[in-house]
Amino acid sequence: MAVRTLGVVMNGVTGRMGYRQHLLRSVLAIREQGGVLLPDGSRVQLDPLLVGRNEDKLAEMAKLHGLTKWTTDLDAALGDDAYPLYFDAQLTAVREKSIIKAIDAGRHIYTEKPVAESVEGALDLARRAAAAGVKNGVVHDKLYLPGLLKLKRLVDSGFFGRILSVRGEFGYWVFEGDWQPAQRPSWNYRAEDGGGITVDMFCHWNYVLENLFGGVQAVTARTATHIPARWDEQGAEYQATADDAAYAIFELTDGVIAQLNSSWCVRVHRDELVEFQVDGTHGSAVAGLHGCRVQPREVTPRPVWNPDLRETQSFRDQWQEVPDNGEFDNGFKAQWEQFVRHVVADTPHPYDFLAGVRGIRLAEAGLKSSDEGKRIVLGDVAV
Ligand SMILES: NC(=O)c1ccc[n+]([C@@H]2O[C@H](COP(=O)([O-])OP(=O)(O)OC[C@H]3O[C@@H](n4cnc5c(N)ncnc54)[C@H](O)[C@@H]3O)[C@@H](O)[C@H]2O)c1
Repeated sequence: MAVRTLGVVMNGVTGRMGYRQHLLRSVLAIREQGGVLLPDGSRVQLDPLLVGRNEDKLAEMAKLHGLTKWTTDLDAALGDDAYPLYFDAQLTAVREKSIIKAIDAGRHIYTEKPVAESVEGALDLARRAAAAGVKNGVVHDKLYLPGLLKLKRLVDSGFFGRILSVRGEFGYWVFEGDWQPAQRPSWNYRAEDGGGITVDMFCHWNYVLENLFGGVQAVTARTATHIPARWDEQGAEYQATADDAAYAIFELTDGVIAQLNSSWCVRVHRDELVEFQVDGTHGSAVAGLHGCRVQPREVTPRPVWNPDLRETQSFRDQWQEVPDNGEFDNGFKAQWEQFVRHVVADTPHPYDFLAGVRGIRLAEAGLKSSDEGKRIVLGDVAV
């Protein structure tokens, strides 16, 4: 069957996410495999137009990957009808303005999270996109982690019985940047540049909780800036104005309680950088990025609290590994394919700007809860 082409303006491709996950692992991988397979058996190939602020970097990147189109002029890129899709992986603080331009140019939009810096800004984008009739989507990559796909399989099978609670640990030590370089961009630690772990991670937690266990109805959070000064990419000391840890309780539909710690100031004593334990009446599971282990109620041990005796059971060894039972593709690529099908073949895509609004709303509510020392109840959102 014929292969169609879909032009994509890719803005922010020189960044960490834009380059590795979106250009390399997604768009170039899709080009390599001959395009995105559509429901009618035909394929659509992607034609990227790289956009950024630094001409030399773009030219070098294009050359390295055999691409021929790049520009530093976003307006010109958006004015080219050969590119009906706009993608944004820029710094969060500059995203909103570019997306508005893209909507005004009648482009479909796919973006990194958060969609905008505030609920108000994100809702404005959702309303503008709806009014313009353009398709819109936001990343939801964590849902495609093999560990979470296995967890979803368990939820769908009824393995847990009634789910009671979820406890998650996310984090690792991010170096301050003085005697070892930091492994995240310095803007992450400056509130004025759109940084902060609450904004970064609660957008993810919202769709993870919503799609696996139920929508978030209320949040109680305490955020912290544990490390007040860090060193940037040039080795200059700066004040860390954004939160670098968030300790939160999320109340979900059907009474499920999720308690998630997110921190860039924690040393890892876990099997993976993120782990979720889910406890249900009929069984429990612990899922990470890749692995997932279970313990059904029939084989649950019967510990007895006695601090005078040294523990003789190895609790970890009593769990059973969930098999892969299939191949897991890169999550970022899977989402690109899903969104491209939505654009070209009108297949469903529930991760739209409104899903993005719910993500940033949870982050705002978490920050408010911490500032005011209050539990924040969330309502419905609509355009
Ligand atoms: N989905 C995920 O798991 C995930 C993980 C990390 C970051 N992100 C999101 O991806 C986006 C980019 O994050 P990153 O870690 O790749 O950041 P980064 O600093 O590595 O990249 C930022 C990009 O924005 C561009 N940019 C445009 N205007 C800019 C300006 N005025 N100042 C500075 N940079 C400007 C930079 O050139 C660069 O290409 C953020 O919105 C972040 O929230 C998502």
